[in-house]
Amino acid sequence: MILVFVGKSSGKTTNAVNVAGALAQRPVSPRPSSRKRRVRLVNADPQGSAAEWAAQRSEAPLFDVVDHIEPTIHKDLPRLLAGPDGPMDDLVIDAPAGTGRPMTIPDGRIRITRSAILAAIADDHGVVVAPVTPSPWDLWAGDDLMQVLEEAWTFAGAAPRARTRTVILLNRVSTREASSDQRQVPKIVRAARARLAEAPLPLLKTVIHDRQDYVQAPAYGLTVTEYAPRGAAAAEVLALTTELLTVAGENK
Ligand SMILES: Nc1ncnc2c1ncn2[C@@H]1O[C@H](COP(=O)(O)OP(=O)(O)OP(=O)(O)O)[C@@H](O)[C@H]1O
Ligand SMILES: [Mg+2]
Repeated sequence: MILVFVGKSSGKTTNAVNVAGALAQRPVSPRPSSRKRRVRLVNADPQGSAAEWAAQRSEAPLFDVVDHIEPTIHKDLPRLLAGPDGPMDDLVIDAPAGTGRPMTIPDGRIRITRSAILAAIADDHGVVVAPVTPSPWDLWAGDDLMQVLEEAWTFAGAAPRARTRTVILLNRVSTREASSDQRQVPKIVRAARARLAEAPLPLLKTVIHDRQDYVQAPAYGLTVTEYAPRGAAAAEVLALTTELLTVAGENK
């Protein structure tokens, strides 16, 4: 799977690192002798927080981390997928901060984001994930994001296929909004769904809540599934990972 996290500062790195970790802990097949998935996290953000995360870590690496801060990700896929023990099963690409109007965001970053989107679109199992924090302000900021996505789709000439594999992830949803009745959809999530219904993008069923585990784990260079494997954050990251593999058409 080629997974690309795009958008403004709304949880790209946090979710990229945690999903990369959950993928790396997952066997490639249900057979008991199966090896784990080979995962590489590609840091394409000039601010480089994925690389900082790796630097905090004292344990053996759970997945590979490389920097690739150039607008050539789609062309360099063969090289990015190659690993010492065979090809990677998953590339998780942490795109630069921000998308949107060239007036407000440096053009170089948009070109990197565009090349990351192209990489996902070109792959049979590519998914573009845009985390969105469901506050009214961020939902409106999604309009800028749509602009870059539309542009990338047109550029790729693969709009219909790409659209089904570009998804919105609600991130940092307040746990105070969460009802003790799990079947009840929080008001903010309903509002986000209504707002996003206007955008031709599917919303992932899995919602990531605002939780301290997401803030604490990176301080130790750990993913949430390592830091608190039985915690609520780990459970939602595992659900997210399974859902993303399904969207990618790869859930075996
Ligand atoms: N689900 C969450 N719960 C609590 N805190 C979160 C959550 N997701 C992200 N954060 C916090 O929000 C901040 C921004 O998240 P993150 O760095 O992942 O976003 P980003 O999209 O990578 O930002 P940038 O565009 O600046 O690279 C971080 O301080 C992170 O710890
Ligand atoms: Mg980041």
